[in-house]
Amino acid sequence: MDMQDIAARGLVLLGCGKMGSAMLAGWLEGGLPASSVWVIDPNPSDWLKGTGVHINAELPAAPGIVLIAVKPQMMGEALPTLQSYGNGSTLFISVAAGTSIATFEDVLGAQSPIVRAMPNTPAAVGRGITAIIGNAHAGDADLDRAAGLLQAVGQVVRLENEGQMDAVTGVSGSGPAYVFHLIETLAAAGEAQGLPAELAMKLAKATVAGAGALAEAAEESPSQLRINVTSPNGTTQAALEVLMDDDDGFPALLNRAVAAATNRSKELSRG
Ligand SMILES: NC(=O)c1ccc[n+]([C@@H]2O[C@H](COP(=O)([O-])OP(=O)(O)OC[C@H]3O[C@@H](n4cnc5c(N)ncnc54)[C@H](OP(=O)(O)O)[C@@H]3O)[C@@H](O)[C@H]2O)c1
Repeated sequence: MDMQDIAARGLVLLGCGKMGSAMLAGWLEGGLPASSVWVIDPNPSDWLKGTGVHINAELPAAPGIVLIAVKPQMMGEALPTLQSYGNGSTLFISVAAGTSIATFEDVLGAQSPIVRAMPNTPAAVGRGITAIIGNAHAGDADLDRAAGLLQAVGQVVRLENEGQMDAVTGVSGSGPAYVFHLIETLAAAGEAQGLPAELAMKLAKATVAGAGALAEAAEESPSQLRINVTSPNGTTQAALEVLMDDDDGFPALLNRAVAAATNRSKELSRG
């Protein structure tokens, strides 16, 4: 990221809750000076107050980037405060689920460079993944700037069209919650087999984290990694026969879960 450019023109963050704070923490750790950040949030957290950024202060005239991280329900109220930056060189980046590029263009002007992004909460530990798509007015340099900024909290992937955003929301945006639930239920299942709760939870967390790290680091596909640890008639095979069941195993379950999230994202986009 060109921190110099952002530092020179300033970055405005609209909404500093969970996602806004996770990203801000990444940028500050990445070397963005606190004095170049302006945050708008009605209830600034104690953490935010301790960072040294400008909070609810008078805003710079033409910030390089405005990052929008309020809930979609608050968008109608919050967006008009940014209108004066529209149709200029300020790059808008929104992480709001279900708010379309067209909605931003309506309020901010279609000549504004706008990037819609879908991050996820592992951003809080620098392990997020964010998908981005720009409007017609966002050029390569704008997308590069957005990617650079979002890389402070993890990986960035570029989409081909905005329509992919709903499925991305269903996979990676909402996905961390599915994995948290996997951890909960794996631990509970261990307890059901007689393990103490604390031990079962420790095993479940480390197994999910370790398997995830291995899947990312290994050259083999996740399918091959699974095959590698499944000896014929062994313990893993016994469990996988349950989990891979056509009717009520993971494939059918996750298909339904991701479809439900994707459809909900489509509904939210329609307003
Ligand atoms: N969390 C996720 O996993 C995730 C993943 C991808 C995308 N997102 C998107 O990220 C956005 C933020 O989500 P979040 O989980 O960070 O929500 P959040 O924790 O509720 O953060 C939103 C923040 O915006 C503040 N706010 C409300 N009205 C405002 C206004 N008019 N002007 C400025 N700030 C205002 C809120 O203050 P109050 O609390 O006082 O209302 C809060 O601090 C959402 O649009 C969501 O779709 C979240």
